This record gives sequence, C-alpha cells and structure tokens, in this order.
Amino acid sequence: MKGLLTLKDLETSKIVELIEYAIKLKNGHYVRYPDKKVATLFFENSTRTHYSFQCALMNLGVNVISCDVGRSSVQKGETLYDTVKTFEALGVDGVVIRSSVDEYFKELENINIPIFNGGDGKTNHPTQSLLDLMTIYEEYGHFDGLKCCIIGDIAHSRVAHTNIEIMERLGMKVYISGPAEFNDNCAPFLSIDEALEEMDVIMLLRVQFERLEEGMTLTNEEYHEKYGLTLERVAKMKNNAIIMHPAPVNRGVEIADDVVECEKSRIFKQMTNGVYIRMAVISEAMDGKL
Ligand code: CP
Repeated sequence: MKGLLTLKDLETSKIVELIEYAIKLKNGHYVRYPDKKVATLFFENSTRTHYSFQCALMNLGVNVISCDVGRSSVQKGETLYDTVKTFEALGVDGVVIRSSVDEYFKELENINIPIFNGGDGKTNHPTQSLLDLMTIYEEYGHFDGLKCCIIGDIAHSRVAHTNIEIMERLGMKVYISGPAEFNDNCAPFLSIDEALEEMDVIMLLRVQFERLEEGMTLTNEEYHEKYGLTLERVAKMKNNAIIMHPAPVNRGVEIADDVVECEKSRIFKQMTNGVYIRMAVISEAMDGKL
C-alpha cells in the first residue's frame, strides 16, 4: 500500500531521511503540488493531527477536502473501504485517515492512492512519532544512546507503542513509568524518581479517559501527586533534558499548569514540527517515493 500506515514498514534510514527532509522544509525548502487533491477523514476527534495535516497540505499548495464524516454517507452505513474507494474514484490523490479501529488500513489493501495514517486505535500514530523524533533530533543531533522514559497511560497509547519500537531501532534506551494499571510491560519499568534523574527525554502521556470503561482507580488529584510532572519534579531532571507530550494535555493531572510552557518543555515545538513532518511525508508520497 502507498503512503504511510505504520513505521514498521519503513527502514531506519528512510525515517532519518524523512526527518532531515522535514528540517530542510522548515528551513524554507520550496516544493508545491498545485494539481493534487487530498481528503482528510477523521472518524475520531483531533486538533493537532487533523489541522496540521491541513496546514501541511496548504503549505504544499495541495487542495484539501476536509470530509465531514458526520454528514457523509458513513452515517448511512457506508464502509470505510467504500468511502475511500469513492474518493479514489473522484480523482483524489491521497487520503488522511484517523480511526479508533486498530489497523483499519488492513481493509484498504485494494486502494491504489496513498493513505496517510493519522492514528489507528491503540496501535500506530506514525506522523506523531516522526515529529517526536524530529524534535529530539533537533535537540541532540543524534538518537544513539539517548534515554527516554514514557510516563502515563501506556496501555491505551498508540504514541507509546509506535515510539518504543522506533526509538529502540534508532539506538535509544526506552523505559516506561506511571500507575501500574497503565503498565502493559511493553518496555522496562522505572520509578518516577529514577526517570527524572537519568533521562534525556521525559515524555508524558495523557490519561485517555475516553478509553477507560471503568474510569481510573486514582482521582486526578492522586494521579498528579504521585505521577504528575510538577516544577518541583522538573528541578530533579538533568540540565539539558527535555519534556515532551503529544497533547492534548490534562493540566493538573499528568502535567502541572506551569510546566506546560516551562523552559524544558518542547510541547508546542512538537506541534510546529508536526506540520513539517507531514509536509515531508506528503511530498514523498506525491513524488511516488512513499
Ligand atoms: N497528538 C495528537 O494526536 O493530538 P490530536 O488528537 O489533537 O490530533
């Protein structure tokens, strides 16, 4: 299949190439595709991924069709395959899809236009991982040997699962931390104190309340007290260590209000980098290289 569905399909060298291309675009490299059309289909809510894909497409001069799923024939029971096949028949050159279904793209194998995965279930969020990696690369200039601890709701996180696989492949040492109820043993576990003192990257995750059928065992206040990143905890981090979070953030739960924009935070830089990473991915696909 064409486009970008999962980072597992990409060679490590291609991932570094995409990051370097995104940095080149951030530095002003000019490329335009005025004859192309791309549709965005978001079956799950999104601010960053949806609108940074749209900004990326606009920056590339690509025409954007923002499909209002709630007013489309999806509401009459049309399948994902038939919806995407329809956009292909209309002459669209690619589709961006977010869905709560793990690996929804497996039912799209007969689609011939590029598909850009904007997140599927608890499994993949490839462009989020690429923008995270771009942010780390801009900070340190390399990946090998860097230590990252992902803290929070690991079990429900496509960001954690995508990042752990690719970060390890790039030579990083990845750990997880947070409440036991969110630990799915996908990486070695550290206590919060160990993580704060030893890591180059602290990556926080949102508690995904919408995916918790029976809610969280802890109250928000208890979570914040035991695991939340406060300024007091930030003071224990290494001098040049950075704080990341894919956002949206739950202020006062996994992160204190005054940490969101503190000097070590790269949270809004991640969002900016998301535009350039998505430009790089779309450009490569429009050139037939993805
Ligand atoms: N980081 C992220 O995927 O945010 P959205 O859900 O707002 O797209």
